[in-house]
Amino acid sequence: MKATVVGAGNVGATTAEYLLREGLADVYMVDVVEGLAAGKALDMAQAAPVLGHSCRVSGGTEYGPAEGSDLVIITAGIARKPGMSREDLLKINGGIMAQVAQNLWHACPNAVVIVVSNPLDVTTHIFHETSGFPTHRVMGMAGVLDTARFRTFIAREVGGSAEDVSAMVLGGHGDSMVPLASQASISGVPLTHFLDDDTIARLVQRTRDGGAEIVGLLKTGSAFYAPAASTVQMASAILRDEKRLLPVCAHVNGQYDLRNLFLGVPARLGRRGVEEVVPVELTADELYALHESAKHVRSAIETWNALKGTL
Ligand code: LAC
Repeated sequence: MKATVVGAGNVGATTAEYLLREGLADVYMVDVVEGLAAGKALDMAQAAPVLGHSCRVSGGTEYGPAEGSDLVIITAGIARKPGMSREDLLKINGGIMAQVAQNLWHACPNAVVIVVSNPLDVTTHIFHETSGFPTHRVMGMAGVLDTARFRTFIAREVGGSAEDVSAMVLGGHGDSMVPLASQASISGVPLTHFLDDDTIARLVQRTRDGGAEIVGLLKTGSAFYAPAASTVQMASAILRDEKRLLPVCAHVNGQYDLRNLFLGVPARLGRRGVEEVVPVELTADELYALHESAKHVRSAIETWNALKGTL
C-alpha cells in the first residue's frame, strides 16, 4: 500500500510516523517548504532499523511521486493564530486546499482522500468541489478526534480506562459539534449510570473546547498527537478494509434529513472509502443539534463562495 501525506508540519509528520510504525503503507510526504518533507522523511527512514519496520518513506516538494497512492492525507494549511478570524483562516487554507486538490486530481485520481486541514468541514467541501474525486472517496477527519477527547474526559472523570468508553461525536468540527451523550457507555453500561447530567454537560463543553484548550497551553501551535492518531485509525480502516463504524466528515445526501453536504456522521470505512453513511437513532435534541451544526457549516461554505472569487 502507498500513502501520500500532504503537509510535513506537526500533524503531517506525526501522521506519517504513525503510519510507518503501524506498518500500514509506504509513505510519500510533500510540502511546499524546500527540504522540510525530504529532511523529515530521511530522519524517519533512519529510525526504521531501530523501530523495526520495513515501510519506505520519502519526501519532496513535487506531486509526481504521489502517483499510484491508495490513500492521501491532507494536513496542508496554517493553524489559526491569535487574533485571526475564521474568515481569514478560510481564505488562506481554502486557497491552499483548492490548489492541493488540483495537484492530487492530476497525480493520483484513484486515491481515497482524508482531509485534516481546518476549518475541517469547509476544506473537505472545497477539496471535493475543486477536484473530480467522487464523494465516497473524499472525507474529513474530526469526529474520531473529538470522540477521543470526549472518551478521555469521561474516563478521567470516572477514574476508568478510556479504552472502555464508547462514544460518538457528530456534526461540524467546531463550537456546534454534537457529542451523543445518549449513546455513550462504559463497556456497555450507559454513561448516566456513572455521571449526573451536570457533569456530562461539563464534559461535553470541554470536548467542544478541546482544540482551543490545547492552543491555549501551547500558545504557538495546535494539537497534533491525537489528531494524527485519529487520522491513522481512519487510514487503517481504509487500507486494511476493516469496515469500521467511525464518526467521519462524510457526504450526506438524504440521511438524517440532510442533503448534499459534508458533515460529521457515523460512517462505515473500508477499501472503497466511505462505504455507507449509517443511520443511527438520535434523540430529538441530538437531531436538532445536528441540523443546527449543518447550518453553521452551510454558512461557512457561503462565506467561502463569496471569498473564492476574490483570491
Ligand atoms: C483541534 C483543532 C486544531 O481540534 O482543530 O485540535
